[in-house]
Amino acid sequence: MRVAVAGGTGMLGAQVCEALASRGHEARALSRSSADFPVDLSTGEGLREALAGCDAVVDASNGQGKAAQAVLVDGSRRLLDAEAAAGVGHHIAISIVGCDLVPSFGYYRAKVAQEGVVRSGSVPWTVVRATQFHGFLDRVFGAAAKVGLRPSSSMPLQPVDVDDLADVVAGVAEGTGEGRTLEVVGPEVVSLRDLGRAWRRASGRGRVPLRIPFWGKTGRALHDGALTSVDPYARGKVGFESWLERRYA
Ligand SMILES: NC(=O)c1ccc[n+]([C@@H]2O[C@H](COP(=O)([O-])OP(=O)(O)OC[C@H]3O[C@@H](n4cnc5c(N)ncnc54)[C@H](OP(=O)(O)O)[C@@H]3O)[C@@H](O)[C@H]2O)c1
Repeated sequence: MRVAVAGGTGMLGAQVCEALASRGHEARALSRSSADFPVDLSTGEGLREALAGCDAVVDASNGQGKAAQAVLVDGSRRLLDAEAAAGVGHHIAISIVGCDLVPSFGYYRAKVAQEGVVRSGSVPWTVVRATQFHGFLDRVFGAAAKVGLRPSSSMPLQPVDVDDLADVVAGVAEGTGEGRTLEVVGPEVVSLRDLGRAWRRASGRGRVPLRIPFWGKTGRALHDGALTSVDPYARGKVGFESWLERRYA
Protein backbone atom coordinates (compact mmCIF):
# COMPACT_ATOMS: atom_id res chain seq x y z
CA MET A 1 0.00 0.00 0.00
CA ARG A 2 0.99 3.62 -0.41
CA VAL A 3 0.00 5.68 2.63
CA ALA A 4 0.36 9.43 3.09
CA VAL A 5 0.92 10.55 6.68
CA ALA A 6 -0.07 14.18 7.20
CA GLY A 7 2.12 15.43 10.04
CA GLY A 8 4.54 12.64 9.17
CA THR A 9 7.46 14.53 10.72
CA GLY A 10 5.74 14.92 14.11
CA MET A 11 5.96 12.95 17.37
CA LEU A 12 3.35 10.40 16.29
CA GLY A 13 3.50 10.80 12.50
CA ALA A 14 7.19 9.88 12.22
CA GLN A 15 6.55 6.65 14.15
CA VAL A 16 3.50 5.86 11.98
CA CYS A 17 5.74 6.19 8.89
CA GLU A 18 8.22 3.75 10.48
CA ALA A 19 5.48 1.30 11.48
CA LEU A 20 4.03 1.36 7.96
CA ALA A 21 7.47 0.84 6.40
CA SER A 22 8.17 -2.09 8.74
CA ARG A 23 4.94 -3.68 7.50
CA GLY A 24 6.18 -3.37 3.91
CA HIS A 25 4.18 -0.30 2.87
CA GLU A 26 5.32 2.91 1.20
CA ALA A 27 4.85 5.75 3.66
CA ARG A 28 4.94 9.39 2.58
CA ALA A 29 5.60 11.97 5.30
CA LEU A 30 3.65 15.14 4.50
CA SER A 31 4.32 18.37 6.38
CA ARG A 32 5.66 21.86 5.84
CA SER A 33 9.19 20.72 6.69
CA SER A 34 9.03 17.44 4.76
CA ALA A 35 11.90 17.16 2.26
CA ASP A 36 9.99 14.93 -0.17
CA PHE A 37 6.35 15.97 0.26
CA PRO A 38 6.12 19.57 1.48
CA VAL A 39 2.48 20.30 2.25
CA ASP A 40 0.77 23.15 4.06
CA LEU A 41 -2.63 22.11 5.38
CA SER A 42 -3.51 25.70 6.21
CA THR A 43 -3.44 26.55 2.49
CA GLY A 44 -3.67 23.16 0.76
CA GLU A 45 -0.38 23.76 -1.04
CA GLY A 46 1.34 20.55 -2.17
CA LEU A 47 -1.59 18.22 -1.43
CA ARG A 48 -2.41 17.20 -5.00
CA GLU A 49 1.13 16.03 -5.78
CA ALA A 50 1.59 14.38 -2.37
CA LEU A 51 -1.60 12.31 -2.52
CA ALA A 52 -1.16 10.98 -6.07
CA GLY A 53 -1.57 7.20 -6.05
CA CYS A 54 -2.18 6.94 -2.28
CA ASP A 55 -4.51 4.25 -0.95
CA ALA A 56 -4.94 5.72 2.52
CA VAL A 57 -4.14 8.86 4.51
CA VAL A 58 -3.29 9.02 8.21
CA ASP A 59 -3.81 12.53 9.57
CA ALA A 60 -1.33 12.98 12.44
CA SER A 61 -0.94 16.72 11.87
CA ASN A 62 -1.31 19.15 14.74
CA GLY A 63 -1.84 22.84 15.40
CA GLN A 64 -2.14 24.84 18.61
CA GLY A 65 -3.84 28.18 19.22
CA LYS A 66 -5.04 29.79 16.00
CA ALA A 67 -3.46 26.97 14.00
CA ALA A 68 -5.90 24.49 15.59
CA GLN A 69 -8.74 25.78 13.42
CA ALA A 70 -6.55 26.33 10.34
CA VAL A 71 -4.77 22.95 10.46
CA LEU A 72 -7.06 20.55 12.31
CA VAL A 73 -10.49 21.72 11.17
CA ASP A 74 -10.13 23.66 7.90
CA GLY A 75 -7.00 21.63 7.10
CA SER A 76 -9.02 18.39 7.43
CA ARG A 77 -11.52 19.78 4.91
CA ARG A 78 -8.72 20.61 2.47
CA LEU A 79 -7.10 17.24 3.02
CA LEU A 80 -10.38 15.34 2.52
CA ASP A 81 -11.24 17.29 -0.65
CA ALA A 82 -7.81 16.46 -2.07
CA GLU A 83 -8.23 12.81 -1.01
CA ALA A 84 -11.61 12.59 -2.77
CA ALA A 85 -10.06 14.04 -5.95
CA ALA A 86 -7.14 11.59 -5.74
CA GLY A 87 -9.39 8.56 -5.10
CA VAL A 88 -7.98 7.82 -1.62
CA GLY A 89 -10.03 5.01 -0.06
CA HIS A 90 -9.49 5.45 3.69
CA HIS A 91 -8.88 8.46 5.95
CA ILE A 92 -7.59 7.77 9.46
CA ALA A 93 -7.86 10.76 11.80
CA ILE A 94 -5.95 10.85 15.08
CA SER A 95 -7.96 12.34 17.92
CA ILE A 96 -8.00 12.33 21.72
CA VAL A 97 -9.82 10.06 24.17
CA GLY A 98 -12.50 12.12 25.92
CA CYS A 99 -12.11 15.27 23.81
CA ASP A 100 -15.90 15.54 23.62
CA LEU A 101 -16.19 15.39 27.43
CA VAL A 102 -14.02 18.46 28.11
CA PRO A 103 -15.53 21.21 25.93
CA SER A 104 -14.06 24.07 27.94
CA PHE A 105 -10.61 23.37 26.42
CA GLY A 106 -10.43 25.25 23.09
CA TYR A 107 -7.98 22.71 21.66
CA TYR A 108 -10.37 19.85 22.48
CA ARG A 109 -13.25 21.74 20.83
CA ALA A 110 -11.12 21.91 17.68
CA LYS A 111 -10.50 18.13 17.89
CA VAL A 112 -14.27 17.52 18.16
CA ALA A 113 -14.84 19.82 15.16
CA GLN A 114 -12.11 17.98 13.25
CA GLU A 115 -13.83 14.64 13.99
CA GLY A 116 -17.11 16.15 12.72
CA VAL A 117 -15.48 17.18 9.42
CA VAL A 118 -14.11 13.65 8.98
CA ARG A 119 -17.42 11.94 9.83
CA SER A 120 -19.41 14.12 7.44
CA GLY A 121 -16.87 13.83 4.60
CA SER A 122 -17.14 11.58 1.56
CA VAL A 123 -13.94 9.55 2.17
CA PRO A 124 -14.44 6.33 4.20
CA TRP A 125 -12.95 6.99 7.62
CA THR A 126 -11.73 5.71 10.96
CA VAL A 127 -11.14 7.97 13.97
CA VAL A 128 -8.40 6.70 16.30
CA ARG A 129 -8.62 8.43 19.65
CA ALA A 130 -5.51 8.14 21.79
CA THR A 131 -4.61 9.14 25.33
CA GLN A 132 -1.71 11.50 26.18
CA PHE A 133 1.67 10.45 24.77
CA HIS A 134 4.50 9.80 27.24
CA GLY A 135 6.61 12.34 25.33
CA PHE A 136 3.88 14.95 25.71
CA LEU A 137 3.75 14.51 29.50
CA ASP A 138 7.55 14.65 29.60
CA ARG A 139 7.36 18.05 27.85
CA VAL A 140 4.66 19.32 30.24
CA PHE A 141 6.65 18.27 33.33
CA GLY A 142 9.85 19.61 31.73
CA ALA A 143 8.29 23.03 31.09
CA ALA A 144 7.02 23.33 34.68
CA ALA A 145 10.37 22.13 36.07
CA LYS A 146 12.08 25.11 34.47
CA VAL A 147 10.61 27.10 37.37
CA GLY A 148 11.09 24.22 39.83
CA LEU A 149 7.45 23.08 39.81
CA ARG A 150 5.69 19.77 39.16
CA PRO A 151 1.97 19.73 38.18
CA SER A 152 0.02 17.48 40.54
CA SER A 153 -3.57 16.33 40.91
CA SER A 154 -5.63 13.20 41.42
CA MET A 155 -6.82 13.35 37.79
CA PRO A 156 -6.45 9.87 36.29
CA LEU A 157 -4.53 9.56 33.02
CA GLN A 158 -3.61 6.53 30.92
CA PRO A 159 -0.62 7.69 28.84
CA VAL A 160 0.45 5.71 25.81
CA ASP A 161 3.75 5.05 24.08
CA VAL A 162 3.78 6.50 20.53
CA ASP A 163 5.49 3.39 19.13
CA ASP A 164 2.66 1.21 20.50
CA LEU A 165 0.08 3.64 19.13
CA ALA A 166 1.82 3.94 15.75
CA ASP A 167 1.72 0.18 15.32
CA VAL A 168 -2.04 0.13 15.99
CA VAL A 169 -2.58 3.04 13.57
CA ALA A 170 -0.56 1.26 10.85
CA GLY A 171 -2.74 -1.82 11.34
CA VAL A 172 -5.88 0.29 11.09
CA ALA A 173 -4.57 1.86 7.86
CA GLU A 174 -4.32 -1.64 6.34
CA GLY A 175 -8.07 -2.07 6.84
CA THR A 176 -11.05 -0.26 5.37
CA GLY A 177 -12.86 2.82 6.63
CA GLU A 178 -15.99 1.54 8.34
CA GLY A 179 -16.88 4.74 10.15
CA ARG A 180 -15.58 3.48 13.50
CA THR A 181 -14.15 5.45 16.43
CA LEU A 182 -11.47 3.40 18.19
CA GLU A 183 -9.69 4.19 21.44
CA VAL A 184 -6.03 3.38 22.09
CA VAL A 185 -4.65 3.76 25.60
CA GLY A 186 -1.59 2.95 27.71
CA PRO A 187 -1.29 -0.11 29.96
CA GLU A 188 -2.23 1.58 33.24
CA VAL A 189 -4.37 4.33 34.75
CA VAL A 190 -2.21 6.58 36.94
CA SER A 191 -2.95 9.93 38.61
CA LEU A 192 -1.17 13.03 37.36
CA ARG A 193 0.33 13.20 40.88
CA ASP A 194 1.96 9.76 40.59
CA LEU A 195 3.08 10.37 37.00
CA GLY A 196 4.76 13.56 38.26
CA ARG A 197 6.45 11.70 41.11
CA ALA A 198 7.79 9.12 38.65
CA TRP A 199 9.00 11.93 36.39
CA ARG A 200 10.79 13.60 39.32
CA ARG A 201 12.50 10.33 40.31
CA ALA A 202 13.69 9.79 36.73
CA SER A 203 14.71 13.35 35.85
CA GLY A 204 15.72 14.68 39.26
CA ARG A 205 13.81 17.88 38.47
CA GLY A 206 10.49 19.49 39.45
CA ARG A 207 10.92 19.42 43.23
CA VAL A 208 7.84 21.43 44.27
CA PRO A 209 4.40 19.93 43.58
CA LEU A 210 1.95 22.44 42.12
CA ARG A 211 -1.61 21.37 42.88
CA ILE A 212 -3.81 21.88 39.81
CA PRO A 213 -7.32 22.83 40.90
CA PHE A 214 -10.20 21.68 38.71
CA TRP A 215 -13.56 23.33 39.05
CA GLY A 216 -17.08 22.80 37.79
CA LYS A 217 -18.19 20.44 35.05
CA THR A 218 -14.74 20.22 33.46
CA GLY A 219 -13.10 19.44 36.80
CA ARG A 220 -15.64 16.72 37.56
CA ALA A 221 -15.23 15.18 34.10
CA LEU A 222 -11.44 15.12 34.44
CA HIS A 223 -11.58 13.64 37.94
CA ASP A 224 -14.11 11.05 36.78
CA GLY A 225 -11.63 9.77 34.19
CA ALA A 226 -12.74 11.62 31.04
CA LEU A 227 -9.26 11.16 29.57
CA THR A 228 -9.16 7.40 30.18
CA SER A 229 -10.97 4.47 28.60
CA VAL A 230 -12.43 1.34 30.22
CA ASP A 231 -13.10 -0.49 26.98
CA PRO A 232 -10.38 0.45 24.49
CA TYR A 233 -9.77 -1.07 21.06
CA ALA A 234 -6.09 -1.53 21.98
CA ARG A 235 -3.77 -1.11 24.95
CA GLY A 236 -0.10 -0.19 24.56
CA LYS A 237 2.48 -2.29 26.43
CA VAL A 238 4.96 0.38 27.56
CA GLY A 239 4.01 2.28 30.72
CA PHE A 240 5.25 5.74 31.70
CA GLU A 241 7.90 4.48 34.16
CA SER A 242 9.45 2.11 31.60
CA TRP A 243 9.41 4.91 29.05
CA LEU A 244 11.14 7.22 31.56
CA GLU A 245 13.84 4.61 32.22
CA ARG A 246 14.77 4.70 28.52
CA ARG A 247 14.39 8.47 28.25
CA TYR A 248 16.59 9.29 31.26
CA ALA A 249 18.98 6.30 31.03
N1 LIG B 1 0.56 14.73 21.92
C1 LIG B 1 -0.33 13.98 22.57
O1 LIG B 1 -0.17 13.64 23.76
C2 LIG B 1 -1.56 13.50 21.83
C3 LIG B 1 -2.47 12.64 22.48
C4 LIG B 1 -3.58 12.16 21.78
C5 LIG B 1 -3.79 12.54 20.47
N2 LIG B 1 -2.92 13.39 19.88
C6 LIG B 1 -3.15 13.79 18.48
O2 LIG B 1 -2.14 13.21 17.67
C7 LIG B 1 -1.89 14.06 16.54
C8 LIG B 1 -0.39 14.27 16.40
O3 LIG B 1 0.10 14.89 17.57
P1 LIG B 1 1.68 15.08 17.81
O4 LIG B 1 1.84 15.41 19.25
O5 LIG B 1 2.42 13.93 17.21
O6 LIG B 1 1.95 16.39 16.96
P2 LIG B 1 3.34 17.14 16.69
O7 LIG B 1 4.49 16.38 17.23
O8 LIG B 1 3.13 18.55 17.12
O9 LIG B 1 3.47 17.10 15.10
C9 LIG B 1 2.62 17.87 14.30
C10 LIG B 1 2.89 17.56 12.84
O10 LIG B 1 2.01 18.36 12.04
C11 LIG B 1 2.77 19.06 11.07
N3 LIG B 1 2.11 20.32 10.77
C12 LIG B 1 1.87 21.37 11.60
N4 LIG B 1 1.29 22.38 10.92
C13 LIG B 1 1.13 21.95 9.64
C14 LIG B 1 0.61 22.52 8.46
N5 LIG B 1 0.10 23.78 8.45
N6 LIG B 1 0.61 21.81 7.33
C15 LIG B 1 1.12 20.54 7.30
N7 LIG B 1 1.62 19.93 8.38
C16 LIG B 1 1.65 20.63 9.53
C17 LIG B 1 4.14 19.24 11.71
O11 LIG B 1 5.18 19.43 10.76
P3 LIG B 1 5.65 20.88 10.23
O12 LIG B 1 5.73 21.77 11.42
O13 LIG B 1 6.95 20.61 9.55
O14 LIG B 1 4.59 21.31 9.25
C18 LIG B 1 4.31 17.89 12.39
O15 LIG B 1 4.73 16.92 11.44
C19 LIG B 1 -2.70 15.33 16.77
O16 LIG B 1 -3.89 15.23 16.04
C20 LIG B 1 -3.04 15.29 18.26
O17 LIG B 1 -4.27 15.92 18.57
C21 LIG B 1 -1.80 13.88 20.51
